[in-house]
Amino acid sequence: MRPTLTIALTLGFAATAALAHVGVKDPQVMARMHGMKTMGADLKTLGQMARGITAFDEAKARAALQSLKAETDQIPALFGPEASDPKSEALPAIWTDPAGFQARKEDMAAALQATRISSPEDIAASMRTIGAACSACHEVYRIKQ
Ligand code: HEC
Repeated sequence: MRPTLTIALTLGFAATAALAHVGVKDPQVMARMHGMKTMGADLKTLGQMARGITAFDEAKARAALQSLKAETDQIPALFGPEASDPKSEALPAIWTDPAGFQARKEDMAAALQATRISSPEDIAASMRTIGAACSACHEVYRIKQ
């Protein structure tokens, strides 16, 4: 492999999510990246409340949870068509093992369904389950960071 290409790939994988979007041409890939980015932002909102970094705000917590649920519902539509882009971190297993991918999406939905947000303690108790559901899918269907 040419050194310049190696460097470009290394930088690509290390880039932040925002940088990772630069130059993505495929609209389907861009849409699913945005959906995932929203999930990341929503989880951060909940995590910061759970840890007392930001003040507990039940309306904000509910909005973040609703958004996570809505984005999870979008996963089949966003990832259904096999679309690729050099910047994408999606692995081919999404399309060679659609049942497994769908199962990870269902687990995610179940974790969110079980999440209670009436106190920071409630949220904290759910964070591990939610995070595990995100990781369970990323471990198999997303290029390792
Ligand atoms: C059913 C599988 C699945 C679940 C569940 C899932 N993800 Fe992802 N996620 C992916 C895949 C696949 C990608 C890579 C998409 C691409 O680059 O084309 C990704 C990418 C991301 C990215 C990078 C997006 C970007 O900017 O390019 C973030 C952030 C992310 N996920 C956060 C989360 C969070 C937080 C959760 C849980 C609340 C979650 N994901 C749950 C499959 C999943």
